[in-house]
Amino acid sequence: APVSPPDLSKCQLATDSANGERVNCCPPYTTANVVDFIPPRKEFLRQRKAAHKLSHDEIRKFQTAIQKLKELPADDPWNYMQQATIHCTYCNGAFDQVGFDDVLLQIHGSWLFTPWHRYYIYFWEKILGKLIGDPTFSIPYWNWDAPDGMYMPQPYLDTSSTLYNGNRNLDHYSALLDLDYTFGAPNPTPEQEEEIKIKNLRKVYNMFTETIGSPALFLGTPLRAGDAPDGAGSLENMHGTLHQWTGPVAIPRHDMGNFYTAARDTMFFAHHANVDRLWDTYSDLRGNKAEFNDPDWLEASFIFYDENRKVVRCKVKDCLITENLGYTYQTERHPWKDVKK
Ligand code: C2O
Repeated sequence: APVSPPDLSKCQLATDSANGERVNCCPPYTTANVVDFIPPRKEFLRQRKAAHKLSHDEIRKFQTAIQKLKELPADDPWNYMQQATIHCTYCNGAFDQVGFDDVLLQIHGSWLFTPWHRYYIYFWEKILGKLIGDPTFSIPYWNWDAPDGMYMPQPYLDTSSTLYNGNRNLDHYSALLDLDYTFGAPNPTPEQEEEIKIKNLRKVYNMFTETIGSPALFLGTPLRAGDAPDGAGSLENMHGTLHQWTGPVAIPRHDMGNFYTAARDTMFFAHHANVDRLWDTYSDLRGNKAEFNDPDWLEASFIFYDENRKVVRCKVKDCLITENLGYTYQTERHPWKDVKK
């Protein structure tokens, strides 16, 4: 059977996996009149752009929206920290799976990873648009699969910006990303940079070509009601490297280096927009047919607090085509397509 949304009345303390601390990641509501999510009508397509290519006006607009999110009352489900906590809720054990008191609800490490995060950042984007009265507002993505994007995107590094977060690895503020990074590894020397860019591109290229016939390798393995996750896909694995590279080295690695706190950094959403974009690219390469023709995936559902202040039940099958959610990614070249194995 497909995984179902949690029972809101049964939230429990979650766990920070870095130090075992018990933490409260419960939503600020314990009951809700849950309604089915209806994909929006396509009046226009929001275009998500690469963060390093945003114009000054686009950056300013984004900063304003984030400012408004931060100014909301602390217990408002839209509030910046409440939005960040959602990640902990579904990742650090705030709920058991319905009907399975010994299995925590966990959306990492399986085929639920990409659809859950797609919905998560979708509602974040819609709420931000609502707050600034602009339904065409779109969030940027961190284009880390292209050489010019293999750095922390500039708009997030300005200390006077609402996008700024000091809990990062400061040594990486102008360093080149290495997709083979592990916590604490030294930065590439200038002589190594060209080589590492090519190696990164090759890794992305291999990630696509080695998994194109087998979606479980790319997106993660099946997880059905009552299962614990045990199979992250190569996209999730690669994405984990960026969490490590962005977060501080010292344990507990708050914010980005730790699931519990990762979404407190605005860069998280840019990172996940790129993960989402790479899934979209993968779907395109496969002719946009559902990656898993399995009701336990297609009918799996999550709940989110939406931009109309309703709690909506969202099924995986309704998020498979980004255009049906009203957004698309600005067409960019895919430099990894030009490298050879
Ligand atoms: Cu929910 Cu980047 O992980």
